[in-house]
Amino acid sequence: MHPNFDSGHSFINSEDAGSFQVDWTHRLLTTRDALAPSNTLLADLLPDDDGPVRMIAILDQGLVTAHPELPTQVQLWAEANPRSVRLVGDAVIVPGGEQAKNDFGVFNTTAQAINERGICRKSFVLAAGGGAVLDAVGYAAASTHRGVRMLRMPTTTLAQADAGIGVKNGINAYGKKNFLGTFSPPWAVVNDTNLLTSLSDRDWRSGLSESVKVALLKDPDFFEELQRLATRTRQRDLDAMEMIVRRTACLHMDHIVHGGDPFELTIARPLDFGHWSAHKLEQMTNFEVAHGEAVAIGLAIDLTYAAMMGRLDESILRSARRCLIDLGFSLDHPALEHHDLLLEGLREFREHLGGRLTITLIEDLGRPVDVHEIDLGTMRRAIDDVRTAAMNESSRAG
Ligand SMILES: NC(=O)c1ccc[n+]([C@@H]2O[C@H](COP(=O)([O-])OP(=O)(O)OC[C@H]3O[C@@H](n4cnc5c(N)ncnc54)[C@H](O)[C@@H]3O)[C@@H](O)[C@H]2O)c1
Ligand SMILES: [Zn+2]
Repeated sequence: MHPNFDSGHSFINSEDAGSFQVDWTHRLLTTRDALAPSNTLLADLLPDDDGPVRMIAILDQGLVTAHPELPTQVQLWAEANPRSVRLVGDAVIVPGGEQAKNDFGVFNTTAQAINERGICRKSFVLAAGGGAVLDAVGYAAASTHRGVRMLRMPTTTLAQADAGIGVKNGINAYGKKNFLGTFSPPWAVVNDTNLLTSLSDRDWRSGLSESVKVALLKDPDFFEELQRLATRTRQRDLDAMEMIVRRTACLHMDHIVHGGDPFELTIARPLDFGHWSAHKLEQMTNFEVAHGEAVAIGLAIDLTYAAMMGRLDESILRSARRCLIDLGFSLDHPALEHHDLLLEGLREFREHLGGRLTITLIEDLGRPVDVHEIDLGTMRRAIDDVRTAAMNESSRAG
């Protein structure tokens, strides 16, 4: 303590600091038929030091509509594993899609179930659904009792490849994406690839833009593989999709576990390549454009910008755009006409991440680069160029 009397005031300046580390194992398991009574993968994940864990299940309505047997399956799975788990009450079914995180509905339903069914910090919330439901349920689980354990079962391609792997949750508020939320790693993530077969074509394809993103950033071989498998995947080949989802998920996982910044405390956010405009486009279209679709357009914009700035070879831009189109994405949307509004996304992106503006581009396959200034004139030209190329493409195809 160093009292300081020199200016007539009395300060007591003191510093007591200590550092601590929290050890966490981030688990991702891939299976088929996770809830079959004979599949012990989920039960084996649960802690066995204090009797069966109490658990509630929260299921995405869209998932249950496609798999009406699911609530009963959860029940039968729990009954087949009495030493590991005790299900408290029936599964709770919540609306799926972005509406799940556009208000407090799913958050409140989850918090209320946790409260009314006596779920404690050692109990579990099993959440199965798309990224939106996982985000909203995850936020409620992370906030109640300051953190109830969560088992995530992502059931869309985007959630299995990306959203479900992340250590974040959140809901949209005040007109901003993910404005409320926390960093909170799940107990485990279990990808059941059989559940993907019921997705609409849009949701089947949606996660693949995140695959292109992470391949361009980190894995040139994977990018080649994506180009090779694009048409097969668009035609709903489950084996191809399974391979792509697993490889994408592993790249995301590897980044979180070995990237040195799981809670995103530094300014660089490479996995948000293509996302500043994607988030804005989702919001501008009232979420009519899905996250994965917006990311495909966002990637095309940032790649075009990088090429126009002379930082990226044109041939890479062309093959990335081609790959996105072959996977089934449209790279145009009428909302792109509103440059000023779209460019607001840059400011909001900076505000959300904090610190100075940092946008990740690529200079080559597998070679990301952070830039801190954007030439707005060039970015406007890049947006127009993406639109024009997409229109030419569709008139050629049509
Ligand atoms: N937390 C993170 O780290 C993170 C990362 C990336 C994206 N996200 C978020 O994820 C969300 C997008 O997730 P999404 O692409 O999974 O979309 P989504 O959650 O909106 O789901 C899309 C639709 O699929 C339905 N559905 C889910 N599983 C199904 C199945 N197996 N069969 C049939 N229908 C099914 C849902 O009901 C919904 O209607 C966005 O809100 C995005 O911001 C979060
Ligand atoms: Zn994303």
